[in-house]
Amino acid sequence: MSKRVFSGVQPTGNIHMGNYLGALKQFVQLQRDNECVYCIVDLHAITVPKDPKELRENILNVAALYMVVGVDPAKSTIFIQSDVSGHAELAWILMCNSYTGELSRMTQFKDKSRASESAPTGLFAYPILMAADILLYDTDIVPVGSDQKQHIELTRDVAIRVNNKYGDDTFVVPEGRFLKEGARIMSLDDPTAKMSKSAENELSRISLLDDEAKIKKAIMRATTDSDGEIRYDPENKPGVSNLLTIYGALVDTPVAELERKYAGQGYGTLKKDLVEVTVQTLRPLRERYTEIRASGELERILADGAERAGSQAEIVMKRVKEKFGLGL
Ligand code: AMP
Ligand code: TRP
Repeated sequence: MSKRVFSGVQPTGNIHMGNYLGALKQFVQLQRDNECVYCIVDLHAITVPKDPKELRENILNVAALYMVVGVDPAKSTIFIQSDVSGHAELAWILMCNSYTGELSRMTQFKDKSRASESAPTGLFAYPILMAADILLYDTDIVPVGSDQKQHIELTRDVAIRVNNKYGDDTFVVPEGRFLKEGARIMSLDDPTAKMSKSAENELSRISLLDDEAKIKKAIMRATTDSDGEIRYDPENKPGVSNLLTIYGALVDTPVAELERKYAGQGYGTLKKDLVEVTVQTLRPLRERYTEIRASGELERILADGAERAGSQAEIVMKRVKEKFGLGL
């Protein structure tokens, strides 16, 4: 049966291999049999100050990347979060039904705020805005990387709590969807940290629009270990294991099969092959990206998406307001 799928990506630069293998690849798989809504979460992006011009550029960049990887605006709704006012509105209602204690436990908040008194309130409330994004569309499935697991759990807790108070038909309780391989891609320079958009070292990640020279440099310099054996063992061999994970996810091959293929070979061979596979995957994306960005069709697609998302959100907002006794 067709389900409602919702997910979002922040419009910040450097959309990378982790975003692609953890989230975007799922977006494309799911749109075949489901009703998918994919959001560019610009309200989430301003929890950290952003240059307005850059933010707007990045919104279009992410929209173009959605399409480049295969999200089809004829099948899926693609829209900008701030175009639908229900996100912020529902977030407030959910904030009144969540606890400061549970938000304080979010690891992303702890990492980003470093317990500073001057951390923005928005950074603290961020997971509630995410819960609102999801619940606003009666979402069944949320495809994301495993770093979002805790936020999905919180969303479920809040939805169940509200349902217990205001009636079971208030919110659909969503489920996260995580891929077996690709849910957590690690940094190339430090395979104990997740690959991130904001890490200072450009060579820590492969961005989807990187050229061949950059891809080669990042992979060939990726941190490995000194025992020389190609084996999947994330605990003792995080670097090699990460390369195997990326490779396997890119060519849809189980890591165990790659281990057999590379048994007795050196890291250099594995890396060279991974460069080749990565370049081949990303080259067509780069070409299409330039086309789509130049075509001027993005604005129309996003306006159309906002309209479709807006009418869906309105139905849910009306129901929620009624349940809570808000307005008349
Ligand atoms: P963000 O860049 O934080 O907006 O993340 C967009 C999506 O990519 C979310 O579903 C994340 O869970 C996913 N993601 C981000 N970093 C990684 C990573 N290193 N490995 C796998 N998935 C990731
Ligand atoms: N918090 C997510 C991230 O940082 C992005 C996001 C915002 C999201 N709202 C969402 C993901 C709703 C899935 C569903 O990656």
